[in-house]
Amino acid sequence: MDITLSIIYLIATITFVVGLKMLGHPETAKKGNLTSAVGMGIAILGTIFLAEKEVPTIIYVLIGSAIAIGGIIGWIIAVKVEMTKMPELVSLFNGFGGASALLIGLVEFSKNIGVAEADKASSSIITTVIAAIIIGSITFTGSLVAWAKLNGSMKDLRLPKYNLINNILFLALVAFGAYIVLMNTDSTLLIYGLLAASLVYGYLFVAPIGGADMPVVISLLNSLTGIAAAITGILYNNMVMLVGGILVGSAGLILTFAMCKAMNRSLASVIFGAFGGGATDGVEGGSKIGGNVKKTTASDAAVLMNYANQVIIVPGYGLAVAQAQHVIHELEELLTSKGVEVKYAIHPVAGRMPGHMNVLLAESNVEYSKLVEMDDINPQFPNTDVVLVVGANDVVNPAAHNDPSSPIYGMPILDVENAKHIIVNKRSMKPGYAGIENELFFNQKTNMLFGDAKAALTELVAELKNM
Ligand code: TAP
Repeated sequence: MDITLSIIYLIATITFVVGLKMLGHPETAKKGNLTSAVGMGIAILGTIFLAEKEVPTIIYVLIGSAIAIGGIIGWIIAVKVEMTKMPELVSLFNGFGGASALLIGLVEFSKNIGVAEADKASSSIITTVIAAIIIGSITFTGSLVAWAKLNGSMKDLRLPKYNLINNILFLALVAFGAYIVLMNTDSTLLIYGLLAASLVYGYLFVAPIGGADMPVVISLLNSLTGIAAAITGILYNNMVMLVGGILVGSAGLILTFAMCKAMNRSLASVIFGAFGGGATDGVEGGSKIGGNVKKTTASDAAVLMNYANQVIIVPGYGLAVAQAQHVIHELEELLTSKGVEVKYAIHPVAGRMPGHMNVLLAESNVEYSKLVEMDDINPQFPNTDVVLVVGANDVVNPAAHNDPSSPIYGMPILDVENAKHIIVNKRSMKPGYAGIENELFFNQKTNMLFGDAKAALTELVAELKNM
């Protein structure tokens, strides 16, 4: 390999590792992203201009056009996408990564077709090609299903005995791939059969997984995209693709397990358990939990907070929907100026994507030191005068502790019920993402401040300013 290209690949690899490390902290995350993107940019340019000698001009034109078209589309989508739609976008990008790997697998396999026995690729290369096709296809259709489910255009699909069907299909896929390798066959029929079966498996794998488990699946698919990229790196003996793929694959797996831990679920139960209803299973028709719900007003809530020593704000998905991150920061600053100690309690799966609340609050310049992780904030609730829950539901649902029949039973939650006063802001009594009722709303200490988060918080700020 060209020595300059080797040096470029080394630099790019270092930027991936450094960038990934920087992504671990909100203050350095933006620069980390940029660092890795620059590394990837120079690796791509180096590959285009240095990897092959004597490339026909038309190839440069084609590659340049593809980069320009893809770059412009990607740019527009990234600029336009709303924070709440980010998981859908990530799913879509995962799917494209899988599609690239499967296409590379098909191209490499086609080089074996009609070739004399002696010139055929080694069985290790064919194994890699088959792995790229299987993993790439599963990632492609699986991610598209995840995308469709997140944007609400597809419902959970659970065929009778779906787990058994999926397991048999998976084993059949592995056997099918092994057969192609062992026979060293160049049959297009077999390879397209394998492709079709893998695409179907990707669909069936994600289709039954419901509700609150989708983030785990998306992270798993993200990890599979990395593995697919690493496999294609092996095929082309390309260090950057290999290392980049391994980093994405391992980071995705670590995130997957971290999220499983945050929800107290095993990866097997996510994949085979098909847990969770959906936000559409509303309970407006009547509550199964007895008791009354106490309503409050912005002015009463403001009085309570004005005279508190400590207030903890619990942000949730509704805060993102309402785009109320700026007004909540204003509220926090106002309370602080009045001598109230204010913190934010951050649940690891609050919102709809990992780190959703951190990113949202960072957008409005909330000081990072004010965001407190679940394990650190939970012991502080008993000494807290007022908890203000804004657009959060499942992550503060005591059913996780009290109701063994609840789908979220065992999931660690923010123990807001231990605080002296609880104010919950949401628009109605509708359930959250897991589709279940929340007994917190019926707690004697809870006051419901109904309304859109932005409007309610704006009113709260106005009331506080008048005090
Ligand atoms: P949720 O349980 O989904 O509850 C959000 C609440 O916000 C809803 O009950 C909704 O009630 C309220 N809301 C919606 N729009 C609002 C607005 N404009 N103003 C005020 N309130 C509004 O959210 P959560 O507590 O953050 O929990 C997250 C859930 O999502 C968990 O089940 C988690 O497993 C799942 N999930 C998480 C992720 C990641 S990785 N974070 C990804 C996918 C799914 P109203 O309709 O009555 O207003």
